[in-house]
Amino acid sequence: MEVDMQELLEDSVLLQCRVNDKPREEFIHPTKSLLDFLREDLGFTGTHMGCMTGHCGACTVTIDGHIAKSCITLAASVQRKKVVTIEGLGEPDSLHPVQSAFCEEAGFQCAYCSPGMVLSTVELLSENPEPTDEEIREALAGNLCRCTGYQSIVRAVRAAAAQYLAKQESQK
Ligand code: FES
Ligand code: FES
Repeated sequence: MEVDMQELLEDSVLLQCRVNDKPREEFIHPTKSLLDFLREDLGFTGTHMGCMTGHCGACTVTIDGHIAKSCITLAASVQRKKVVTIEGLGEPDSLHPVQSAFCEEAGFQCAYCSPGMVLSTVELLSENPEPTDEEIREALAGNLCRCTGYQSIVRAVRAAAAQYLAKQESQK
């Protein structure tokens, strides 16, 4: 099938945003989801595709510092905003403290839910560095784990919180 470039451009919007601290500029279809933009156009496949209805949290990212389900977010809505995916948190040889805590406390089994769990935890600890177990469970209520690893996930969040506090103390 021949692609009509004129038609394609007329149906496109120019999206300018920052993803994982790098400027991005792409023509996208106005109905494209942020999840598809991140995975297909930018290759950030750590943003997982799950239910596609906003319920499981596998596709969680942050937009201007707040968590969002990228499957139900239009890519066009992040115009001039900052998006962070799991790839933007740490590197394999220098993990973000929350990623380290999840590894140390075995806060995953298959890890499909982990990117979303980790990003939701980062947001929780930035707002509440000493959450109770109840607050942790409430903050992660939008992230489902099919492997039922909730006990170890809560332990991992507690461990991450302790690391955050220790770092703050050492900076006083
Ligand atoms: S894939 Fe987005 S919430 Fe499930
Ligand atoms: S560790 Fe498998 S879905 Fe959570």
